[in-house]
Amino acid sequence: MSAERKFFVGGNFKMNGNLESLTAIADRLNSSELDANVEVVIAPPACYLASLSSQLAQKENVNVSAENVHQAAKGAFTGEISCSMALDCGASYAILGHSERRHVFGETNKQIGEKTKATLAAGLVVIACIGEKGEDRKSGNTMVVCVEQLTAYKDNVEDWSKVVIAYEPVWAIGTGEVATPEIAQETHLNIRSWLSDNVSPEVAASVRIIYGGSVNGKNCKELASQPDIDGFLVGGASLKPEFVDIINCDC
Ligand code: 13P
Repeated sequence: MSAERKFFVGGNFKMNGNLESLTAIADRLNSSELDANVEVVIAPPACYLASLSSQLAQKENVNVSAENVHQAAKGAFTGEISCSMALDCGASYAILGHSERRHVFGETNKQIGEKTKATLAAGLVVIACIGEKGEDRKSGNTMVVCVEQLTAYKDNVEDWSKVVIAYEPVWAIGTGEVATPEIAQETHLNIRSWLSDNVSPEVAASVRIIYGGSVNGKNCKELASQPDIDGFLVGGASLKPEFVDIINCDC
């Protein structure tokens, strides 16, 4: 956490919940006292974007994100949604390059780069996910993988104020095996150094780099105390009441 960068907490609901349970989560956010210094974004399944964004419309600092978008403006892409459809439904962010999109649905860096370009052109903020598999970390290739992924974003970004980088080591996602604060901090610092060398020192100093992977109400405070961890992308715990504790972890 740093004084210059606004803390960011995202909730990625993935393919979980239903109208009743997700409405209850939005109700909880609406009725909770949330730290005004934290930017909160929830990413529900696409079919609930419109109802949750209108439910949260009056809540300051809470916005809604698509979990994914397609790079084309329209066309024969059964099952996909475009950036303008996400915007129509009240989204102001889109998560791109999530490890499940990469490793379950086979999205490539090239495709994620194309999505980045289209998403930024449409006026959505990109939550740009990167992260290595366990085998990459064991073989010392964490930054090799992260740099390949970062490069695909960099080639398609002009305005980095519209990008939040989410470092989500694949081995920590949904496993309960959270990265230690030391491991997460070291990797965030390496990402920031890469940005400084390959984009600019100004961008490196201002871009939020958030951590994702088994974050919960208990481990968030120590992670948040690291100087280069600027927030979280939370999966499972974002569906639970402790999401509010994660948002308020610096209060
Ligand atoms: P978990 O918090 O369930 O590990 O998921 C993290 C994640 O993938 C957020 O995008």
